[in-house]
Amino acid sequence: MNGIPVGILGTGKYAPERRLTNQDLERMVDTNDEWIVSRTGIRERRIAAEHEATSDLAYEASVRALAAAGITADQLDLIIVATITPDMFFPSTACILQDRLGAKKAAAFDLSAACSGFIYGLANASGFIALGTYKYALVIGADTLSRITDYTDRNTCVLFGDGAGAVVIGAVPEGRGFQSFELGADGSGGEHLRLPGGGSRVPSSERSVAERQHFMQMNGREVFKFAARIMGNAADEALRKAGVSKEEIDLLIPHQANIRIIQSSLERLNLPPEKCVINVDKYGNMSAASIPLALAEAVEEGRVKDGDRIVLVGFGGGLTWGASVLVW
Ligand code: ACO
Repeated sequence: MNGIPVGILGTGKYAPERRLTNQDLERMVDTNDEWIVSRTGIRERRIAAEHEATSDLAYEASVRALAAAGITADQLDLIIVATITPDMFFPSTACILQDRLGAKKAAAFDLSAACSGFIYGLANASGFIALGTYKYALVIGADTLSRITDYTDRNTCVLFGDGAGAVVIGAVPEGRGFQSFELGADGSGGEHLRLPGGGSRVPSSERSVAERQHFMQMNGREVFKFAARIMGNAADEALRKAGVSKEEIDLLIPHQANIRIIQSSLERLNLPPEKCVINVDKYGNMSAASIPLALAEAVEEGRVKDGDRIVLVGFGGGLTWGASVLVW
């Protein structure tokens, strides 16, 4: 990539305390642990407390990422929050977070690319740093999907959870950091994964609420087919741009939507499971939070070593996708 080399200086994660297990879901809808585990790999998810909103999850992850990077909030030049569940339409979750962190000089905005949002955010923020416009940026993936999940719909309610992951990015030595980004979108598939109500097309009304339009709607089979194809394509393209071969990958950090989608990416990249971070069993799909939380967890567990070549890859509503190759 051109310009100043940019990489990750610190990571942080936060998952709410409350666990929603498959057994809990068995009591809520017509489902069972065996179906959920065999089709998705998910055993439990975290659910935000009543008083917690997306900015609260983002705040906890951010404080940890700042501490890990060894910088203070007032040194930040930019905050990007990737989310599809902002606290409210506006002010942005990034502005709410900027105030709470005391990041007085930071520009702040939200970014909407669903589960690909964190990689979109990294690509945006690293562009500013590579050009020398900014020195430090905080990029967060945070989602409180439990607030837009219909817990009477077994097709979706077993899949999603809440959480946040954050990274501080800045200049790194030559040869380190992000080697490539691959971002893409196919808006023609938008109908397969959407939340139609509450926007300017279907404003909130008694009718929109009665029709449950404020909950996520998903065509699972179509999303599955798209994901299985695009995860491999996006990773291949990011590797090609970076000049890194599949054999050189040390760690794959994929979006955690479904164990079968992760397995198909592993097959496509010809990687053994030990080279992949998998935590979908513990958290379910947390949209934009899945990749940064998995990265932070891998760092905490000592799975990420100096000089490792890491591939991040995700897909999501939009439809969107994103991948990046980085050297730790
Ligand atoms: N428990 C029991 N049965 C269920 C459940 C459930 N929770 N959910 C669906 N079923 C039933 C269906 O009704 C269907 O029954 P039918 O054949 O009588 O109609 C049957 O199980 C099989 O359904 P399929 O859709 O074929 O199941 P599939 O193997 O495709 O798995 C799943 C469904 C897990 C949703 C899968 O399609 C998937 O993971 N898709 C991708 C979803 C995804 O990743 N979404 C998030 C995108 S990220 C973002 O932007 C938020």
